[in-house]
Amino acid sequence: MDKISSGITGFDELTDGGFNKSTVTVLGGTPGTGKTIFGLQFLVNGAKKGEKGIYIALEERIEDVHEFTESFGWDLISLAKDDMITLHQYKISSLEEKMSLAQYKKAEPPTTKDIFYALKQELDSNKYARAVIDSVSLLKLAGDSEKETRAELASLLRYLKLKKLTVVLIAERLSNGDNYDFEDFLADSVIQLRDYPSNEERKRGITVLKMRGSKIDRTTRPYFITDKGITVYPTEHLL
Ligand SMILES: Nc1ncnc2c1ncn2[C@@H]1O[C@H](COP(=O)(O)OP(=O)(O)OP(=O)(O)O)[C@@H](O)[C@H]1O
Ligand SMILES: [Mg+2]
Repeated sequence: MDKISSGITGFDELTDGGFNKSTVTVLGGTPGTGKTIFGLQFLVNGAKKGEKGIYIALEERIEDVHEFTESFGWDLISLAKDDMITLHQYKISSLEEKMSLAQYKKAEPPTTKDIFYALKQELDSNKYARAVIDSVSLLKLAGDSEKETRAELASLLRYLKLKKLTVVLIAERLSNGDNYDFEDFLADSVIQLRDYPSNEERKRGITVLKMRGSKIDRTTRPYFITDKGITVYPTEHLL
């Protein structure tokens, strides 16, 4: 397996050297666990090595992304100007927004196929090495039926691999429990970010649940979000 460094301090030690190149990783977590920060840190690290990346936001506003990454000193604005990172806000409604009111009244809402097609077009350039989709949970909401959404998502993931992209697919989790969905089966790797009560403070833990073709440490390890981004402590225990 060709490895690419994640850029998350301490994370590569859990995964025998980082992400596997040209694979899809689901990054699941409850609210505020640092999923978006993790995804952007992965892109910034690639950009520093000359690997171009794209961040596709379905929910986060790009302006907010700029603002909240300021404290990490990543300078996304310069990286975007230099064409190293593309921040793309894709709204499910954007297909509708392009229409005039008269067209809109007549038009059918976009179908699952329309939405996935638009997304593929966005990624249809050979310039990107890394991509983050934030989040797959929202993408799935756009689907007309679970059957169709699953088929389209599977097709999208095959397409991304064909394009040799290394992808982080952010997934919203409603609880810390083992609540999986079909993207976890489709993906090559699954990482879970969790937030645990511990006396008065809460602790954060990261678990690598699967990574096809790699030796992994499946112990839940503590991680912290600081002004430097996310840092994992790969030899420490949570409690
Ligand atoms: N400089 C910083 N130092 C410490 N913690 C920070 C810093 N910047 C952000 N955070 C923490 O990071 C968390 C938010 O991270 P992020 O937005 O990546 O989470 P998320 O999992 O994407 O959330 P959501 O599910 O709402 O999209 C917040 O809980 C915030 O407290
Ligand atoms: Mg987020």
